[in-house]
Amino acid sequence: MMFKNNLSNCYNIADLRRQAERRLPKAMFGYLDGFAEDGVCGRRNRSAFDQVELLPRILVDVADVDISTFVFNQKINMPIICAPVALPRLFHHEGEIAAASAASQAGIVYSLSTLSSTSIEKVAEIPGPKWFQLYMYRDKGLVKEFIERAKASGYQALCLTVDAFVGGNREQDLRNGFSVPPHPSLKTILETALHPGWCWDYLTKPRVTTANVSGDRITGAKGKTTLLQYVTDQLTPSVTWKEVDWLREQFDGEILIKGILNPEDAVQAKQCGVNGLVLSNHGGRQLDHAVATIAMLPEMKDRVGGDLEIIIDSGIRRGTDVIKAIALGAKACMIGRPYIYGLSAAGKVGVEKAFAILRGEIIRDMQLLGCRTLSELNKEFIRISK
Ligand SMILES: Cc1cc2nc3c(=O)[nH]c(=O)nc-3n(C[C@H](O)[C@H](O)[C@H](O)COP(=O)(O)O)c2cc1C
Repeated sequence: MMFKNNLSNCYNIADLRRQAERRLPKAMFGYLDGFAEDGVCGRRNRSAFDQVELLPRILVDVADVDISTFVFNQKINMPIICAPVALPRLFHHEGEIAAASAASQAGIVYSLSTLSSTSIEKVAEIPGPKWFQLYMYRDKGLVKEFIERAKASGYQALCLTVDAFVGGNREQDLRNGFSVPPHPSLKTILETALHPGWCWDYLTKPRVTTANVSGDRITGAKGKTTLLQYVTDQLTPSVTWKEVDWLREQFDGEILIKGILNPEDAVQAKQCGVNGLVLSNHGGRQLDHAVATIAMLPEMKDRVGGDLEIIIDSGIRRGTDVIKAIALGAKACMIGRPYIYGLSAAGKVGVEKAFAILRGEIIRDMQLLGCRTLSELNKEFIRISK
């Protein structure tokens, strides 16, 4: 059964978000879009970008603008990286395959979540640069197995997420009755029936599950547990820098730590021999009231910018956000929800649309700013309003 998408009316990421909201059941959209607790961090992610003003130069020949760059010596066609997102097939059955294929066509890096709904190996079949996101699980054997599989499948970098060892307090997920798999209450059944496109795909396509952990693992686990519960129980709040040292010993490729906000931690990460960091507050989904990432970028750049690749995420929705981040010292920007809005709205064409929107905006805004290449961007183009 085909359901028509409405992409022709989408001119920006906010439009894609609206289309995602139309297609997804409320609980599913709430899980994608929501923030922790009062959403202060989520809102601040946006307002902090708004406080950064651009100061254009005029009468520069900007007929040819080049927005390609290099991250860890890998050329990418624009300074965008797909953030790791758990279980993308929940939002659209094409899931990671759609997102990674669109990223490949756009010439950008795709990061696969440990909690992916398509396996490490299957996603690796799609050409293009890829990173694998890790959590430091209780079972180091499992982490080691992931590292080996990512290495054997050609993932260039490992991205250790350190800000989600306990789940953020997302109260609306509780209120909406969000669960994986969806719990069939009268409310959720009625709500889901109002979204026939999503519902049809969900019911007729292969079941959505964590694809990197085999069901055999839970056979030996204590009590009645689902695979997702098993992997969630693997998260532990007792992870420290010792585990980063351990990871460094296991993998000789590039390692990034995702979820750093404090420059002191960035310095420590550098001492542990990692190669990069993702300045991230998890899109406002974890610690409410956490600082906005763009606000920390200049200091981060001063402290470790000479040694570590700095990637930034959380709240990036516009080409101007990307330009501001690069001007303040980031190498590239990760986006999470923007490409998942596209995926949710229309599968692969929706992700392509998200990338095309951002690409178009970055090029136009670079021209209006009077800047030809990303390497020309610097603090001279920025004013921070108080
Ligand atoms: C639905 C959803 C699932 C996510 N799953 C993961 C994950 O499995 N691992 C991870 O490191 N980050 C995860 N994140 C966080 C993203 O990688 C990224 O940090 C965040 O989305 C950036 O903010 P943005 O959505 O405003 O772009 C998830 C984000 C969303 C929205």
